[in-house]
Amino acid sequence: MFQPHIRVYASPAALAQAVAEQIVESAELSIRLTGRFTIGVSGGQTPRALYELLAAEPYAARIDWTNVEVFFGDERCVPPDHPDSNFRMANEALLDNVPIPYERIHRMRGEIDPQEAAIEYGKLLKDRFDKSGLDLILLGMGEDGHTASLFPGSAALKEKEHRCVANWVEKLGNWRLTLTAPFMNRSYEVLVLTTGPKKAPVVKEILEGDGAEKYPIGLIRPESGRLYWHMDAAAADM
Ligand code: 6PG
Repeated sequence: MFQPHIRVYASPAALAQAVAEQIVESAELSIRLTGRFTIGVSGGQTPRALYELLAAEPYAARIDWTNVEVFFGDERCVPPDHPDSNFRMANEALLDNVPIPYERIHRMRGEIDPQEAAIEYGKLLKDRFDKSGLDLILLGMGEDGHTASLFPGSAALKEKEHRCVANWVEKLGNWRLTLTAPFMNRSYEVLVLTTGPKKAPVVKEILEGDGAEKYPIGLIRPESGRLYWHMDAAAADM
């Protein structure tokens, strides 16, 4: 039975603090061993507090940002300055405030044709990682059990070959760009960050019931890496 590491915190602020500490440790180890720390960042609202924490002291000084390389778990098909852009949120909250070399921030180009953007990003990942994966990837989860832009019933759930695809999301009526589960499962560490009571039913189904078969986030099972569920008490229904 696949067992994720479950971590429950009293509040979203405590969760952000703990995840920031984990990222500091992982970054230090990766940079010491390989000279680089490759991290996949997620969109949505949950990680914003974490990004802002990482961009401020003491964390800003505890990470060797010049050797950090940033990738995105998914992106909306909008320009990078659009209010819905995951890049815009991460850039405002973190990337624009720490000294990561510009050429090591790899955004998905949501402003171009979705298929072209997916092919372009997939080639980047193939050239950069070949058969390996990210050191660490941050993921959120929607109330419908989606993660990144792997939504229930969408074609990307069946993708086995490509690392990044354009995914039509019927419920949203638009395209998304998303990393695929096979690529995300090559990550050394996968951190799922979930807060709030609305997600508690799906979290319970995933971690205690048969939800792993029902929801896209159930596809996230690292091949050899570690999976962490970081939740606040509300999402853990405690
Ligand atoms: C996105 C995210 C998405 C997000 C979940 C949870 O592009 O929206 O990548 O997968 O993580 O929708 O979003 P919240 O953190 O806002 O609840």
